[in-house]
Amino acid sequence: MSRAKIAVFVSGGGTNLQALIDARKSGALHSGEIALVLSSSPNAYALERAAKAGIPSVVCSRKALGSQEAFEAAISQALADHGIQIIVLAGFMSILSEDFTRRWPRRILNVHPSLIPSFCGKGMYGLKVHEAALAKGVKVTGATVHFVNEIPDGGEIVLQRAVDVLPGDTPEILQRRVMEQAEWVLLPQATELLCAELIKGEN
Ligand code: GAR
Repeated sequence: MSRAKIAVFVSGGGTNLQALIDARKSGALHSGEIALVLSSSPNAYALERAAKAGIPSVVCSRKALGSQEAFEAAISQALADHGIQIIVLAGFMSILSEDFTRRWPRRILNVHPSLIPSFCGKGMYGLKVHEAALAKGVKVTGATVHFVNEIPDGGEIVLQRAVDVLPGDTPEILQRRVMEQAEWVLLPQATELLCAELIKGEN
């Protein structure tokens, strides 16, 4: 059976990448294969996870490459080299331009650690999202997987799951609960859905 070729874009710890790797092993993600891990940072622990799983990786640093154009040209080259069909942003902290996202319509997924449209958009990433949720005093938060377009966190929503905020939560505790109960479940599910749709269209 043919499988869609996925590139996972990372910048940090890579626990969402790990969830995708584990989903490949368990068979939950069976319509796609992780053919490339692309990191915006040479120091991301996610690169070690890729190496342990035997997945090729490449580093494309916006800073090292000097301009957005050079950064995106390097990314596009890596994607072409590996025959990539689907991009999954899993904690990828660099911005992709409209020029880039327009070339991948409904082919880029992102996981965001809140229930969009709450606590999202420019400058809302990682722990900041959970700090904002706690500051607002919401009793329910969650995670969203959505398609990526030119609007930060503005593309069509694919899956969402709610997670309780509990008394005594710190941003770190809440982040962990949102990951465990929502992100690590939703991201492999949404990736499988998209890969299955893609390979169905090819056959
Ligand atoms: C995750 O919580 C992800 O949702 C978030 O960064 C974390 C990355 O963790 N992404 C964003 O905030 C994007 N706006 P990971 O490297 O362990 O997967």
